[in-house]
Amino acid sequence: MKDMNILAIESSCDETSMAIIRNGTDNLGTVVLSQMDTHATFGGVVPEIASRMHVENITMVLEETLNKAHMTLDDIDAIAITYGPGLIGSLLIGLQAAKTLAFITGKPLIPVHHIAGHIYANNLVKRLEFPLMALVVSGGHTELVYMKEDYSFEKIGGTLDDAVGEAYDKVARVLGIPYPGGPNVDKLASAGKDTYNLPLPLDDDSFNFSFSGLKSAVINLKHNLNQKGIEVIPENLAASFQNRVTEILIKKTIRAMHKYHVKKLIIAGGVSANKTLRDRLSSVCEENGFELITPELKYCTDNAAMIGAAGYYAYQKGRIASLDLNAKATDTLQ
Ligand code: KG4
Ligand code: ZN
Repeated sequence: MKDMNILAIESSCDETSMAIIRNGTDNLGTVVLSQMDTHATFGGVVPEIASRMHVENITMVLEETLNKAHMTLDDIDAIAITYGPGLIGSLLIGLQAAKTLAFITGKPLIPVHHIAGHIYANNLVKRLEFPLMALVVSGGHTELVYMKEDYSFEKIGGTLDDAVGEAYDKVARVLGIPYPGGPNVDKLASAGKDTYNLPLPLDDDSFNFSFSGLKSAVINLKHNLNQKGIEVIPENLAASFQNRVTEILIKKTIRAMHKYHVKKLIIAGGVSANKTLRDRLSSVCEENGFELITPELKYCTDNAAMIGAAGYYAYQKGRIASLDLNAKATDTLQ
């Protein structure tokens, strides 16, 4: 079969990113322009600023991506775009660029769900084999997804309230840790001990998760100790929180794998960069005879390489959009 070079665009939050991916597996060139430093001043992503910065940066990111891959638009066979979910203003900038490129090149436009992208970041490490279980842990999602084949997603459980990344970011704020919260809590926790008595959240027979109670428990514990004039030890509180999060994620994931008779596990989304989660999953999978694939650290958080990888398999399933494709702030993974 002829090689297929996909130019992928991702702009759903605060990263302007483009990539050229060949046949769903080969990364020919990726550029990720993060706005993190700008948003850090405000303690979180400011949607209006994010979309304006996408407008300013997107043409430059396109030029740089083509240069990196030593290609021109003539070498591109299709355009893949994150149409959602995400910040609507941010999504629209990438989408407009993608539609324009599809129009001027006459090449197909492939719509990609952001979480499908996170899942396929693993395909850049090793070609996925099915059936598999995907543990999706990002700033907006916490889901267990069963995949019986390429581009087939069956959600078997998800969070009832906060996403795990969101809980990390909120706990970071309570502990006075600067944005971005997740990676900083991760670092702090590695220097601490699990000394605080926090609950294991939603420890039931379902495959659902709940993190808002655990987050409140952290807030209340800090508040109560402060009222008694007792200083909280931030690294220990971070380690206790992180242990509870990883314990419940791993417990339910492993149970789901047994129930669905799958032996392959992938993790996806920003929180898949978490060292404790990776290390513990790796040993638990080994104990159970399961194979674990983890995305490269640089492709755990938002990037277009993962969209290009997912786009290839979306295309094979006939997912081609017309030029009236719209952005969606929320959308089910399907
Ligand atoms: O996937 P992502 O880049 O954006 C969404 O699609 O939501 O994930 C961002 C989330 C943030 O909540 C961030 O704090 C969290 O991933 N995160 C981490 C780590 N690195 C990023 N959480 C825990 N440990 C990390 N090392
Ligand atoms: Zn993401």
